[in-house]
Formats: sequence, C-alpha cells, structure tokens
Amino acid sequence: MTAVTEAPAEPISVTGQQYSPGLEGIVAARTAMSDVNGRTGKLLYRGFDIAELAEKSNFEETCFLLYNGRLPTRSELEELRRDLGEHRVLPPRLLDLLRGLDPKAEPMDLLRTGVSALAHFDPDVADMSPEANVRKALRLVAQTTTLVAAIGRLHRGLEPVAPDPSQTVAGDFLRMWSGEDPDPVAEKVFDVCLILHADHGMNASTFTARVIASTLSDMHSAVVGAIGALKGPLHGGANAGVMEMLEEIDSVDRADEWVREALDEKKRVMGFGHRVYKVYDPRATVLKKFSKELGERAGETKWYEMSEKVEKVVLEVKGLNPNVDFYSASTYHVLGLERFIFTPVFALSRMAGWTAHVLEQYEGNRLMRPESEYVGPPSAVYTPAEERG
Ligand code: COA
Repeated sequence: MTAVTEAPAEPISVTGQQYSPGLEGIVAARTAMSDVNGRTGKLLYRGFDIAELAEKSNFEETCFLLYNGRLPTRSELEELRRDLGEHRVLPPRLLDLLRGLDPKAEPMDLLRTGVSALAHFDPDVADMSPEANVRKALRLVAQTTTLVAAIGRLHRGLEPVAPDPSQTVAGDFLRMWSGEDPDPVAEKVFDVCLILHADHGMNASTFTARVIASTLSDMHSAVVGAIGALKGPLHGGANAGVMEMLEEIDSVDRADEWVREALDEKKRVMGFGHRVYKVYDPRATVLKKFSKELGERAGETKWYEMSEKVEKVVLEVKGLNPNVDFYSASTYHVLGLERFIFTPVFALSRMAGWTAHVLEQYEGNRLMRPESEYVGPPSAVYTPAEERG
C-alpha cells in the first residue's frame, strides 16, 4: 500500500505538441527482445511464448536467447553455464566494501552501490566494443546473483556463502541465500521465476537503462540507473509491498474486509494493475500456480489463500487483475526468501533484460532526448538580493 500523487490523467497540450503524461502510448524504441501484448495477455521473448519457456527452458538459456536472438546449441549452453558460474565469484574487495556498509540499509541501495562498485573491478570497463560489452553483460548477471545473496546474508547477520560455479544460477542463488543445497523442486520453481522476470518491453527500469545507454555512457552506469528505477513501489518494489500487505492481513478470514477498506480509502493495492496489460498478466498465471502448489507442498497454504481472496475483491471492486508481483510474493515466501530481498531478486533476473537492451540500444543508437512543455511564468523581473525583503 503506498501514497501516490496522481498526475493529470488527460494529455494537455499548450503548444499543440503531443503531451503524454508518463509517456503512456508513446513508442520510444524498437526492440527485438520482448513483445508485451496487453490485449491478448501474451508475452514473447524473441518470438517464444513465455508460457512455453516457463515450461521447457531455463534461466541460462533465456539469457542466451535474449543476447543472441536464438536458442543455444548444447555446447553453447554449457559454455554459458560455465561462464556464468566462473563470474559469480566476487572480487574480495567488493565484499569488504559491502561489509563496511550498514547491513540493515535498504537492500536495493546496497545493490545499487555494489553494482556501481563492480565497474571498478571490471577489466573491460573502458572498452566500449560490442565484444567487451557482451562480456560485461554476462559478468553483471553472474555477479548480481552473488551480490544479492551476500546482501541477504549480511542483512541477517550471516557470513556470505561462496558461489559454486558448477551449479545453475537458480540453484546457486538459493544455496548462497540459505547455506544449504536447495531441493530440486524449489530450484526449478525459482529458475522459472527468473525466466518470468528477465525482460518486459519498455518498462520503467529498462527505459532508464536505455536512456543512459543512449548517451553512450557505459553498461554499469545504465544498469545502476535501472536498479534505482526498479526500487520504486510502482515498479519492482511492489513485490515487497505485496508481502507487507499479506503479513499485515495475516489471516484468510480478514483478507476480504481488509482489502475492501483499503480500496474505500482509495489506497493502491500493490501487485495489481498494469500500464500495458488490460487482461491477466501471463506471468501471474504461472506464479499463481506455483504459489498454490508450493504452499500445499509446504503445508502452508495461508499465503496463497489470502492472495486469492485479495485477488477476488480487487477484481470485483476495481476490475483490476494481478500483475507479476502479486503471486511472486507468496511464491518467494514459501521458497524461504524474506520480504527485504524480493526486489533485489527481481533485479538479479531483470539484469539479463537490462543488459540485453543496453546492447540493443548501442547497436542502433539515437540519443533519447524528449521535450518538455514549459508551463511556468512567461517572464519574471529579477530583483537583486539586497533589495528583497
Ligand atoms: N490498486 C488500486 N487501484 C488501482 C491500482 C491498484 N494497484 N492500480 C490502478 N488503480 C486504479 C487507479 O487508482 C485509477 O483509478 P481511477 O480511474 O478510479 O482513478 C485506475 O486504476 C487507473 O490507474 P492508473 O494509475 O492510471 O494506471 P497506470 O497505468 O498509470 O498504473 C500501475 C499502472 C502499475 C502504476 C498501477 O496499476 C499501480 O500503481 N499498481 C500498484 C503497483 C504495482 O503493482 N506495480 C507493479 C507493476 S508490474
């Protein structure tokens, strides 16, 4: 639940130029990465339906697909797995830097600082060639996995666990988070969560990354900006907001009344509504199933049941469907993740999409520089400071 200052809903134009608050309906880039169809509720990565990728693919393959526009051969996939495994090892001085910061600080702030600092250890940092940028992209995905897990451990007063390059990204993250080998079902579900969050058209954080890349600034700067955008409660921060709400409701019996009251008070319910999807978010379909199945498997169905009640009321009262963040909250919770790490987990997956978009932006770059409409006073008379009251 969050307080929001509403922007004017209607496009206003004083000069006759088109003005679209929030850039709604504006096409700001052409991309071959993902196709978000808000009318049919379909999401494609490079032409592949997300539902099929969720069923048959894995996060590493999805990364390859986003970077290369095609599925990898078996040996290419093995090579990518090896690279991602090797690059998960963080520079020791980065961990020292992290240890020197307040471990209870906002985790997305720690992640932003950590990813920014990674640039100083990257051997390709000053090299803007396409080959070097691809290497930086891969390293960022790999390093963010370890960084998020380390932030999660330090926050809980625990020592970070070293990566195991032989593991998958999903399995190794869960191992570095908990200190124990994950069970295969948890690893599989988390792997699919990473696939589902990897890319999503011109969302606010990807747009931010592309704006920064369009100045021909470097990859690290672009993704640091993206992390800042993702942190907001209207974007990636919503998954933590959902869990906060569920914890506050705390019982299935209270869910109905709690949400009706919140909506009566004109509050926004986190995890609902979407700028593009006017139908059910296809990612929410998969996550809802996980939330239910994992809850039943763990004998902890309360979170799913509460979520289902909330969903019914929000649909009835506001006509809104859940988005990706709604059922990811209860899914992550049952996977053993804590609320404070939900948004950084989103970032570790979206790092694949951000870096792929930055590469695409560099390929056919045009500086992003929209205009603004001046609505201040037409002229003002300057009075020297000593003559002012
Ligand atoms: N809870 C309650 N009402 C909501 C709502 C929500 N989550 N999302 C939208 N609405 C309402 C608005 O209040 C508005 O109602 P009104 O017409 O009666 O004033 C209407 O739906 C349209 O909202 P608007 O803000 O114009 O939609 P948008 O396209 O700008 O917003 C979001 C998209 C995602 C920012 C918005 O749905 C939201 O804030 N959702 C909650 C945060 C969230 O889950 N973010 C993750 C997105 S993946």
